[in-house]
Formats: sequence, structure tokens, C-alpha cells
Amino acid sequence: MYQIRRNRILRQSPAIRAMVAETILKPADFIAPLFITEGKGIREEIASMKDYYRMSIDNTLTEVKELWALGIKSVLLFIKCNDELKDNKGTEALNPDGLMQRSIKAIKDACPGMVVMTDVALDPFSIYGHDGIVEGNEIVNDPTVEVLALMSLSHAIAGADIVAPSDMMDGRIIAIREALEENSMSRTGIMAYSAKYASCFYGPFRDALDSAPGFGDKKTYQMDYANRREAIKETLMDVDEGADIVMVKPAMAYLDIIREVRDSVEVPVSAYHVSGEYAMIKAAAQMGWLDENKAVIESLTSIKRAGADLIATYYAKHAAKLING
Ligand code: PBG
Repeated sequence: MYQIRRNRILRQSPAIRAMVAETILKPADFIAPLFITEGKGIREEIASMKDYYRMSIDNTLTEVKELWALGIKSVLLFIKCNDELKDNKGTEALNPDGLMQRSIKAIKDACPGMVVMTDVALDPFSIYGHDGIVEGNEIVNDPTVEVLALMSLSHAIAGADIVAPSDMMDGRIIAIREALEENSMSRTGIMAYSAKYASCFYGPFRDALDSAPGFGDKKTYQMDYANRREAIKETLMDVDEGADIVMVKPAMAYLDIIREVRDSVEVPVSAYHVSGEYAMIKAAAQMGWLDENKAVIESLTSIKRAGADLIATYYAKHAAKLING
């Protein structure tokens, strides 16, 4: 018997489309990255990230309260370290009174409900702009891991809810978990940048923090974008080592990886819609070549449909406003 299937029936009105939509974005899906700089009253636009700003702590607090009011539940902190404080070992990253530690405390005081996540890697603190300690031409793994564990502990003591190691050194997740446990910081979580690729799409971010590598590139620690199986290997190891949330980064060019990771683990998966992805939409919108609002919602919905439970995006506030109407 012939069965008539008319798929357009479920597309014929906004109401029916809303009823059968499989993926619905909400502000709580978003993690808002914040760039923090020293000083007071500072709000500097990042040249390659139009409408995105580096802010001093005071302005950051206003921003965090606005994000919270829009329904965003988490922020991811990055700090711009002054040049004179940079060295090879990330000494300033461990300063209990450093900009990161002060920012964490100020945000938790001003907006206690907000989940504060912190970037853990040496690049903003490194004279070489590398995520780890440099010896000769090498980024050395194990000495870096020791610093990353201490850095995570320092963020936890300052009040961070979740530390987010973005460095791609081997063995750092278990080292961080152990450091937290040994120091009674058992409530601090770890969001592991598990499948982080060596990507050109980080370019604008490195402008924002003045953290571009001074020599070479990051290909000896970040993953080769030719690889898919390796992403699963990295992710499974991070889960074994104690990651509470795993991440795929970047997002739009890596939707296949997001889906495969989502299908391979039982922890929440986040995806980082990175600076270059933001810049591409901004630039096209500025030229009048794309409708920015539509491009933002379509991009973020696609990342969620691919399997991301959480999305770190510079469009968090913009998208939350669009969603809230
Ligand atoms: C550094 C770090 C980078 C990003 C997050 N943490 C840059 C890099 O690895 O060079 C990129 C974020 C973005 O491009 O939005 N550990």
C-alpha cells in the first residue's frame, strides 16, 4: 500500500515549527568569556573583535550583573597580564593577589550565584606567549603541569567554581584534581579543554590578551585538525583523570568532533565558539553581507544540535537578548 508522507505539514507555520523544534537555545547554555585588565573605568574595544571589550574589574562587575539578569549562569575569565610581570614560569599566575585572583573574589562577592570559571594556562603570563614553560625550543610538559596544578589551586582558593585548563599538556587533569583534593578544595570542578586544536581561529583572542607565541606555533601540544580519533582518545583520558566537563574547540569547523565526543562520554560537553568565529560573523555583518542576529542564532543552534551541552561564546550576551526577546 502506498503511504503518503508529506514532510512539509510540520513546517507550515511558526507555531507548528516551534512545536517540533528539536534544539532550543537558552541563556543558561552559554558561558560568557571575559577579558579583564588592570586599572579603573577601563573598557577597551578589541581591534579584531568589534563590540567586544577588555575591562577593568569595576566594569567587569557591571557586566557580570547584566549577564546574570539575562539568565547567563557562567563566565570564563581571562586576564591580560602586564608585560613587566611576565616570565617563563608563569610566576604571576600564582600570585594570591594577582589580577585573576582579585577578579574571582570580586565577581563572587558581587554576584555569588554566577559560576566562575577560570582559564588555566601560562600563555598570558609567559614572555614567550606559550601555554607552558619553555626550555630551548621545547615546551616542557611535566614542569608545566606542576605550575598548572598550583595555578588551579590558587584559583580555587580565590573562589573559582570551575578551573578550565586550556593548555593541552599531558596528565594535567589528574594533577589538578589531586592538588585540589590534597588541599581540601574538593568542591572545585574541572572543565578540560580536551579536544583543543591548533587553530588559526584563535588569532583575535591573542590580540585581546597580547599573548601570541613569540616563536614557533602551538602544534606540539594542541591537536592537528586533520585528526578525529585522537579527539576521542584525549577526551576519554580527561574523563578518566577526573574532568567534570570536557570541551571541543573551536566549534563551527569541528561539529563532527562535538557529535562524536557527545556520543563517547557521559559528562557534559562544551564547545568553544572562538574569537575568530566571532570575528567572521562580525566582519560579514559590518559589510552588510550577513544578517548578524540570524547568523548568531543559526550558528549557536547548530553547535548545540551537534551535541554541545554548553557553549562558550563571545555572542553570549547578544544571543541571550535575542532569545529573551
Ligand atoms: C590559551 C587560550 C587560547 C584560547 C583560550 N585559551 C588561545 C590559544 O590557545 O592560543 C582561544 C580562545 C579564542 O580564540 O576565543 N591557552
